[in-house]
Amino acid sequence: MSHELPKVLIPENKIKQKIQDLATEIAFDYRGKEITAICVLKGSYVFFADLIRKIDLPLSCEFIGLSSYGDKTESSGEVKLTLDLTEPLQGRHVIIIEDIVDSGLTMQYLVNNLKARKPATLKVCTLLHKPDALQCELQLDYVGFKLGREFVVGYGLDYAGRFRNLPYIGILEHEH
Ligand code: PRP
Repeated sequence: MSHELPKVLIPENKIKQKIQDLATEIAFDYRGKEITAICVLKGSYVFFADLIRKIDLPLSCEFIGLSSYGDKTESSGEVKLTLDLTEPLQGRHVIIIEDIVDSGLTMQYLVNNLKARKPATLKVCTLLHKPDALQCELQLDYVGFKLGREFVVGYGLDYAGRFRNLPYIGILEHEH
């Protein structure tokens, strides 16, 4: 197992600034309302924790677990629900907080799943988005950074379970 660190693609300070910008935009759009923020485990927990602390509005947190990559770098296309929400969403203003939309298959599954629970509104916030890799139609309401097709890790994103603890978004240059 290599101990080489992934190359920095998006440094910590750029992520921090982007999160402040997203939080300000969300707080403006939802002024006077209460939000239910949904953390998509596992990858989103770092972004989620940083983002919600910058949103200056009444907010409740829910967690859902989804997985489609296993230990691979390409989506299996089959999304597994590994953990469900604990509260109903009916009548709530829901924002899905995701680390990355790549093929979009995870988000497509999640949006359909949550719409069926009849929220008042449903929007999507993703830190990272790979427009060229998208395999379905999706509306992404808040996007942090657009990427190419490179496989990225860090700041919650893993490769075979590793690198979630990196404070930056990085690229794996060699086999690990
Ligand atoms: C990652 C990421 C997104 C999804 C995006 O999750 O956190 O949920 O892939 O990929 P897609 O747009 O191609 O569907 P993963 O399945 O690796 O599980 P994890 O969050 O537990 O790491």
